[in-house]
Amino acid sequence: MEIKAIEASETWMIRHEVMWPEHPIAFVKLEEDKLGLHFGAFDNGKLISIVSCFITEDEMQFRKLATLEAYQGKGIASELLQYIFQIAKQKQLRKIWCNARMNKKSFYEKFGMVDTHKNFMKSGKEFTIMEILI
Ligand SMILES: CC(C)(COP(=O)(O)OP(=O)(O)OC[C@H]1O[C@@H](n2cnc3c(N)ncnc32)[C@H](O)[C@@H]1OP(=O)(O)O)[C@@H](O)C(=O)NCCC(=O)NCCS
Repeated sequence: MEIKAIEASETWMIRHEVMWPEHPIAFVKLEEDKLGLHFGAFDNGKLISIVSCFITEDEMQFRKLATLEAYQGKGIASELLQYIFQIAKQKQLRKIWCNARMNKKSFYEKFGMVDTHKNFMKSGKEFTIMEILI
């Protein structure tokens, strides 16, 4: 498995297939994508997991973490997260945060992220803001 920087456009297919298949692909293309840092995990050259990072001042927000279903539960998203946490540390950022799907809260807690209890609904799903000070 190899992790490397990718283009925003390379994330769109997995975002669509894994996260929002019920919406048209335009739904997963973000206006902010051109400002983001995008990373992918590759298995024998095949892109299998993605994440997008948006840095403002001393904070990094990561968005749209997703692994192709056939590759889930093998630690791949965990490696991607650790990779971007390292980048945040190298850039001497203060905070990493995300809008977490409520059912993924315990996954992020494994990385020391805490629930800020700022909850909201979006597109019929419940989210909470999770963060870690680094
Ligand atoms: C959430 C998501 C990105 C996780 O991706 P993943 O590559 O399966 O993540 P990991 O394999 O690192 O971790 C998944 C689980 O497997 C466990 N795991 C980690 N390494 C493992 C390994 N080597 N072997 C078996 N299980 C492992 C993790 O502890 C984790 O357990 P948990 O779900 O009970 O917390 C993936 O499920 C996904 O794409 N879901 C749909 C989109 C989504 O919900 N994205 C997050 C929005 S907030």
